Amino acid sequence: MASAPAITVIGGGIIGATCAWELAGAGARVRLIDARRPGDGATRASAGVLAPYIEGHPASPLRELGRESLDLYDAFIARLSADSHRAIVYQRNGSLEVALTMEEAERLSAASAVLWREGVEARWVPGPVIPDLEPNAAPDAPGALLIPMHGFVGVSSLTVAAVAGARQHGAEVVEASGAIEVSRVPGGGVRVRTDAGTWEADMAVMASGSWSSRITVEGAEPVPVRPIRGQLLQLAASPGTVRHTLWGTAGYLVPWPDGSVLVGATVEDVGFDESATEEARHELLEMAAALVPALKHATVADVRVGLRPRGPDDLPIVGRSAAVPGLVYATGHYRNGVLLAPLTAQLVRRLVLDPAAPTIAALDPGRCGRL
Ligand code: GLY
Repeated sequence: MASAPAITVIGGGIIGATCAWELAGAGARVRLIDARRPGDGATRASAGVLAPYIEGHPASPLRELGRESLDLYDAFIARLSADSHRAIVYQRNGSLEVALTMEEAERLSAASAVLWREGVEARWVPGPVIPDLEPNAAPDAPGALLIPMHGFVGVSSLTVAAVAGARQHGAEVVEASGAIEVSRVPGGGVRVRTDAGTWEADMAVMASGSWSSRITVEGAEPVPVRPIRGQLLQLAASPGTVRHTLWGTAGYLVPWPDGSVLVGATVEDVGFDESATEEARHELLEMAAALVPALKHATVADVRVGLRPRGPDDLPIVGRSAAVPGLVYATGHYRNGVLLAPLTAQLVRRLVLDPAAPTIAALDPGRCGRL
């Protein structure tokens, strides 16, 4: 391989865009191709929640990987905004997981004790104290679990910055170019055939989220990721209505810097259907009002829909292909693409640029079949 390898990154969502930026920043010649426009897939509908201790079950490697990636976030955002000259919405405002029943309160206060024992700052907040932290939370909530390190990032601003940062380092971005097939180039290299042309490079990164399963890879089985629809509402509200990222058993609320509140998200196995539904709007509004009654009659300012890529064990698939030398998978991030973006981009940079770099065993594509 030449000293500045050519890399095709397939997919310009949060994962593809941040991988493209990392690789271009490390000196690779990057071409980022997207079937639509960067950020127009699942990324568009993400509320950007950064909450490994809520999303990751204690027994799942997701918890540790999420924590590791969260620990990279401050430096990642600082480096990316300096590199791209773009402002990125990013706050570590803490999460408050609100119990609405006694049973839920018992579960969360026990979880808080376990987190403390693990050395994670987590605090059980008894019901009467909740209004000091979150004045508009459900008044009869018996308690809540506060995790101050959690936060959120503005995913659209992050993706725009990553694409701008990649371009700053010479990357080319090709829109409206949906990948169809990935194959070897005789003599070395990877060919990516799309509906708008064919690109050859030294290596390729498959970061096409739910659509990865539809791309044929020579000699490999289809990537076993399924699209899981998530619908998200943006509610008009006055600043301060919600302060923390609030969680209930049925969803979450994210306080946007302009005062509006993002309400997410449905989890629906409906194939490649990206339409919004009245039923989901109703469910999400009900869930929001249960956590924050003041939102009961809030105006829905926007509805967003995305397809999360879910793998067989809910963990991402990140590592080298055994079938096509030079192809690296970075897909299947399901509910945590945004949280895991810094860690994934760093890992992909290593896997692409250093032939000796090891992958993370829990993420290895080989666990998901002949990839
Ligand atoms: N990470 C939250 C979601 O996917 O809804």
